[in-house]
Amino acid sequence: MSFLSSHAPIVDHGLDLDRFRDEDASSLAALFRTIYGNEYPSPEVYDPDFLIQANRKGTTCSYICRDGTGRVVAHLALVRSAPFDGAMEVAQGLVHPAYRGTGLLSRLMELVIAEAARSHQCATLFATAVCNHVMSQRSLAGAGFSDSAFEIDYTPSRLFAKERASRGRVATVFAFRSLKPAPELPTYLPQAYAAVITGMFQETGTQRRFLHPRPGLPLPDTSVTEVTDVPTLDVTKITVACAGRDLADRVQQVESRARSNGRAVVQVLLDMSTPTVDAAVESLRAAGFWFGGVLPRYLNADAFLMQKTLSTPNFDEVKADSSAAKDLLQVVQADWFRANVSVMVTAPRDSARPVTRSP
Ligand SMILES: CC(C)(COP(=O)(O)OP(=O)(O)OC[C@H]1O[C@@H](n2cnc3c(N)ncnc32)[C@H](O)[C@@H]1OP(=O)(O)O)[C@@H](O)C(=O)NCCC(=O)NCCS
Repeated sequence: MSFLSSHAPIVDHGLDLDRFRDEDASSLAALFRTIYGNEYPSPEVYDPDFLIQANRKGTTCSYICRDGTGRVVAHLALVRSAPFDGAMEVAQGLVHPAYRGTGLLSRLMELVIAEAARSHQCATLFATAVCNHVMSQRSLAGAGFSDSAFEIDYTPSRLFAKERASRGRVATVFAFRSLKPAPELPTYLPQAYAAVITGMFQETGTQRRFLHPRPGLPLPDTSVTEVTDVPTLDVTKITVACAGRDLADRVQQVESRARSNGRAVVQVLLDMSTPTVDAAVESLRAAGFWFGGVLPRYLNADAFLMQKTLSTPNFDEVKADSSAAKDLLQVVQADWFRANVSVMVTAPRDSARPVTRSP
């Protein structure tokens, strides 16, 4: 058992868990640099003034651990990063290498969850845990989070270069914990993945009003979409509020631009409260996109994630910890295979090999 197990008072070890104060800003920026060098995808974290302002405004609520000298040695934050104001992200988990494996992240997790429920108007919490190790996933599972999606190849390996913690791009697993249940939230089920989605909601005890889209539903001419390009992660995201007949063309244009800009991943998020979600999924499947999972209440409505990596995905290094995450990863991998393997050459014996679609 770690020396920081829940029953040991943390002050006995010269450590102090607390809400961030202005005077912690330089030390916190230095901790980001110790772990990520200059590669953290939101470079503002290196700016002490930004950290102070973000905490004053409440866009980020940082919780930290100081050692006996007042130096910040661990950090975890609640961040307002989702389109839905009632969702907060548990993010930016950092523990100084000298203090790892002693339970600090999990102690901060307990504090942050208690604060989210007590002090912030928050209906749901989510987190994206990197999958080059299992520590964040374990800590989140211990805090009552459930895994619901994989974002394959989401983070560049350069982010982990300083710690030599990955060879290729790193996947993240999306985990959520509902603080205020929303059983009446309408969720249209894409037919191709209806069983996986309802199974996931059932296993996590999350209730919804599931709806089946009407076959042959007429689509508007024009889709309502928002494109976000994130060069620091090499990712382009498209959020689709409503799919129209032009969706395939729109996505194709965004994908071409992403390729020419050297992006590694294109993600599409579909609003599941609109009945056009099924038509959108079918159009994306035909365009080579594959299953990612569900981001519950990310848009206030649930969001369905489909994804495409623009080169061969790094499945080999994905560490899925819980049995739910392992099952989900299998679904993701099988669907990647469906989307990418157009012909299976079966003869002669022992030389069967998949033939992948050219980009
Ligand atoms: C990930 C990181 C924050 C973990 O901090 P930590 O204080 O060492 O983590 P903890 O000791 O609290 O352990 C967290 C969980 O992982 C488990 N764990 C710890 N070391 C482990 C190991 N070597 N192997 C497997 N599990 C381990 C713990 O038992 C704990 O699970 P529990 O709460 O069910 O007991 C730290 O390694 C770090 O800063 N890494 C670099 C940045 C990073 O990857 N951040 C995460 C972004 S999502």
